[in-house]
Amino acid sequence: MLNTFEQFLSDYQIDSTGSVSEAFHYATADGGKRIRPMLLLALLSDYNVDLTKGLSSALAIEFIHSYSLVHDDLPAMDNDDYRRGKLSVHKKYGEDIAILAGDALLTEAFAVLANDQENDAAVNLKLIQYLSKCAGINGMIYGQQLDLEAENHVLDEAAIHEINRYKTSKLLIFAMVAPAIISHHDEDIKVLEDIALKLGLAFQIQDDILDVTKSFEEIGKVGSDESNHKSTLVNLLGLDNATTHVEHLFNDIYSLVKQLNLSSNHVITLINSIEKRQK
Ligand code: IPE
Ligand code: IPE
Ligand code: MG
Ligand code: MG
Ligand code: MG
Repeated sequence: MLNTFEQFLSDYQIDSTGSVSEAFHYATADGGKRIRPMLLLALLSDYNVDLTKGLSSALAIEFIHSYSLVHDDLPAMDNDDYRRGKLSVHKKYGEDIAILAGDALLTEAFAVLANDQENDAAVNLKLIQYLSKCAGINGMIYGQQLDLEAENHVLDEAAIHEINRYKTSKLLIFAMVAPAIISHHDEDIKVLEDIALKLGLAFQIQDDILDVTKSFEEIGKVGSDESNHKSTLVNLLGLDNATTHVEHLFNDIYSLVKQLNLSSNHVITLINSIEKRQK
């Protein structure tokens, strides 16, 4: 599954040459865990649908995710010099090129879906509508706004969840709802949104835990939440309580997944590995 995705990604054609296309490749090449495309393809396969029908959506969500990270690392945002064990895109290519590479990734994500030949046009239109909702001003971007505005403020638990619900869960929600759109399982969309919401909350708390407990060598980035005065569940409740919170979320996720009528257990296996992740 991962190999199929990696091949599809490396086959993606960009005609222009020079710094922006180099930065584009740099931002999407090796090092990422590919959790969003893998969730999408795992669930599609649990719905007994050929992976070719999900590759465009998988690439689109990875492009959106990569763009969000390129911009997230910029000096005007989190100001991080490293990502995935190497220099962040603006450190390597300059801020101007990093901004354009992020813009290009965002634009190409929608081009991939608009040009897809594997699904009916009506399905691709639904995917485009759903992706724009999850990634846009009412989705991930809103979460990034809340995250920036919260710097230097002490937030309560509800406010932290609200940030994470948008900045992290929304892209995971696309990854988990896209298979239902592709396979016409509209009746599952509500529960999939719920699962992915909780998975995003858990994933972001894990990220905040790793930020303070792991080294650059282990996670490929340098924890900057403290120096950026970010409000996280870890600094609000402490490591132990944050860890317990993650456990509870995963328990909820497992019981919700049981409500789905899946023909195999690829997505459960993947969720298990996310629960245990060390990077
Ligand atoms: C990092 O996402 C940003 C968060 C939403 C926490 P990932 O941990 O999925 O990043 P990569 O793609 O594996 O580098
Ligand atoms: C990033 O959250 C979320 C998005 C990019 C949408 P973080 O700022 O915590 O992610 P890292 O720690 O830089 O990967
Ligand atoms: Mg950030
Ligand atoms: Mg960041
Ligand atoms: Mg982080």
